[in-house]
Amino acid sequence: MPVVLISEEEIQSRVLELAAQISADHESQGEIVLVGVLKGSFIFLADLSRRLTIPRTIEFIAVSSYGNGSKTTGAVRLVMDVRGNIEGKHVIIVEDIVDTGHTLKYLIGMLDSHRPASVKTCALVRKAERAEVHVDVDYLGFDISDEWVVGYGLDYAEQNRTLPYIGVISPDD
Ligand code: PRP
Repeated sequence: MPVVLISEEEIQSRVLELAAQISADHESQGEIVLVGVLKGSFIFLADLSRRLTIPRTIEFIAVSSYGNGSKTTGAVRLVMDVRGNIEGKHVIIVEDIVDTGHTLKYLIGMLDSHRPASVKTCALVRKAERAEVHVDVDYLGFDISDEWVVGYGLDYAEQNRTLPYIGVISPDD
């Protein structure tokens, strides 16, 4: 079993704080659009979106990395774009994890091409020591060290995504 790194209670309380902060920051802007990055963001997005106190709509986007070595080359490919029109809207990209930063950097540029009013970023966890490109995370849950983490949307070979906590595994588990 994974070893608990961030408990369910810690996650839920931080999600509530992030939702309050996002709500306060966007109170005067009307509706915001949360763009969840599949697959990993689906649980975080579900919890975060239900705790906001401002009008919001939900979109999804899917990306894939090129080949096995792609995380180091940083090449990201768009698999599924947002379905709704986000032109002129305030957008927040919702990620489970920022690792090298390539995916989020790519997504900011990609969504910018839809001419939204603004694009901000929100991630539950970030591995700061793995960063290869700089990308601002406007709303961050937790900074973590470079370990294999699973749960709350995060997987290892598609396993353990639905754990209510974030846990650490060793690759031999
Ligand atoms: C994870 C995560 C981000 C990306 C971050 O997705 O959800 O999208 O990797 O990595 P980066 O900062 O190095 O670009 P993953 O490829 O594991 O797909 P999944 O969400 O479908 O599990």
